Amino acid sequence: MLEDLGRKFARLTTNAVVRRPGLWRVFRGLMRRQFDAIAPRWEAMRLPDTLAPLEAGLSAVRGTPRRVLDLGTGTGVGARTVAERFPEAEVVGADLSERMLDEARRLLPSELASRVRFETADGSALPYEDSSFDLVMLANMIPFFDELARVVAPGGSVVIAYSGGAETPIYVPSDRLRRGLGARGFTEFAEFDAGRGTAFLARKADRI
Ligand SMILES: C[S@@+](CC[C@H](N)C(=O)[O-])C[C@H]1O[C@@H](n2cnc3c(N)ncnc32)[C@H](O)[C@@H]1O
Repeated sequence: MLEDLGRKFARLTTNAVVRRPGLWRVFRGLMRRQFDAIAPRWEAMRLPDTLAPLEAGLSAVRGTPRRVLDLGTGTGVGARTVAERFPEAEVVGADLSERMLDEARRLLPSELASRVRFETADGSALPYEDSSFDLVMLANMIPFFDELARVVAPGGSVVIAYSGGAETPIYVPSDRLRRGLGARGFTEFAEFDAGRGTAFLARKADRI
């Protein structure tokens, strides 16, 4: 019952904030509390094919990114996955929820500890310099297009994956992602279906 309400709240928040990013300040506190509360159980809630869309998107990224941001990292599964795929990469997993980050730090294998770190950050106002990352990935997370465009370096990529496709509580359709990123200098869009979900890949144009 409570989890069903949580899913509805996540969908309502996503739709509102993608339409009007300024509304995030209304939802932010509740969203953080919701994910703080669910953090100890989050890892156990994952279905076996949850990562399939993310893996599909990552497998199509051009080149070998060295600076990666997993935004809305939760318990860090995306950060661990991308660190294993790209052994040269330094990975930051960022999240609003301290409890999620506690779990992410606990679950990080020691062999990844020198390259993966977890930090508190809000996707709507990231504490990173312009062009800080070669790859920003979001799994089941709300995209804030202006900040994505700011922190991705020219020639860098964005991967946005939704584990349950349109059934995912936090979900943004590909045509909306295409419009949001296309208006901010991203090109070379690709879409993937994998497992129960979908992924979207875009590349930021090289500096001219
Ligand atoms: C649905 S969970 C996904 C977690 C993880 N990416 C996964 O797929 O298992 C969404 C996560 O995004 C975080 N989040 C939501 N809005 C955020 C924001 N504006 N900035 C940073 N993190 C946010 C939540 O705290 C939560 O941990």
